[in-house]
Amino acid sequence: MSKKAGKKRRPRDVDACDVTRDRVRAHFLDGQTGPWARKLGAEPSPSTDAASSSDAVPSTAASSSTSSKTEMTVAPGPAGPDYSVPSSIDIVADPVLHAIATRRSISKLDPQTPNDADLRELIHAVSSVADHKGLKPWRFIIIRGHDRIRLGEALDEAGNVQRKAGEINEKPLRAELLLALVASPQDNPKVPEWEQHATAAGAGHLLELALWQAGWGVMWRSGNLTNEPAVRRLHRLKESELLMGWLYIGAVPERYRQRLSNSTRPLPDPEQFLDTL
Ligand SMILES: Cc1cc2nc3c(=O)[nH]c(=O)nc-3n(C[C@H](O)[C@H](O)[C@H](O)COP(=O)(O)O)c2cc1C
Repeated sequence: MSKKAGKKRRPRDVDACDVTRDRVRAHFLDGQTGPWARKLGAEPSPSTDAASSSDAVPSTAASSSTSSKTEMTVAPGPAGPDYSVPSSIDIVADPVLHAIATRRSISKLDPQTPNDADLRELIHAVSSVADHKGLKPWRFIIIRGHDRIRLGEALDEAGNVQRKAGEINEKPLRAELLLALVASPQDNPKVPEWEQHATAAGAGHLLELALWQAGWGVMWRSGNLTNEPAVRRLHRLKESELLMGWLYIGAVPERYRQRLSNSTRPLPDPEQFLDTL
């Protein structure tokens, strides 16, 4: 690939392009992403109307409070880019590519969090992760409230940290909600363990992105103590399982949101990630 082959701008109306950029920027940075997507999803369209009765697709809003066992069918949305044919690639205008390209980890989070129904909804979505033989070798554990203090105690035990009376390990308190990601591989003659770990990591990355897209801040954290016995015990891991860290989740602080809206982080040159045999 030549150095210049990365992002090509087609010769078209620059004003229109700027309008698109502003619209997409506003969309992704105003914290309204979730409601926006729900409203759009709720709008009638010829394709979803036609599928009305037995094979009707529940809207995201309609299915939000159902149990985690709920099966959900998701049809193509009523609006947005046409993905039916290979087409031009536009990181700004395409909402999926835009979310991927602009995602950032947020280390300092405000206390609001998605509720468990929202988490289920997002986990529904990320279960599309590439998964050899569909083994679903991953799971998440919700950690809120006092459970975060228990996590701090387990980390202290693992790290052999002694604290003065009344002092606690505050690291897990950096967010109100932590989601532990567990790789949970199964014995399968066709799918080695490393592939299943890759799928679990993919689920974690997709969930980070899905949360970001839904307007939440996330930071994936782990560390050398993550799979020490005391920490594994707290998460009740099976021998075969691997703890892959925790997604720290919360609201994006307003000051950070403003910074985001004024800055863009340049993406690295794709050449460095590409080669041929
Ligand atoms: C499995 C995994 C574990 C991570 N653990 C930590 C961690 O313990 N501490 C940390 O500062 N960043 C950790 N990171 C990196 C951050 O999540 C984040 O990606 C990094 O700060 C770069 O920010 P960005 O995501 O905005 O590019 C981890 C990332 C992954 C994928």
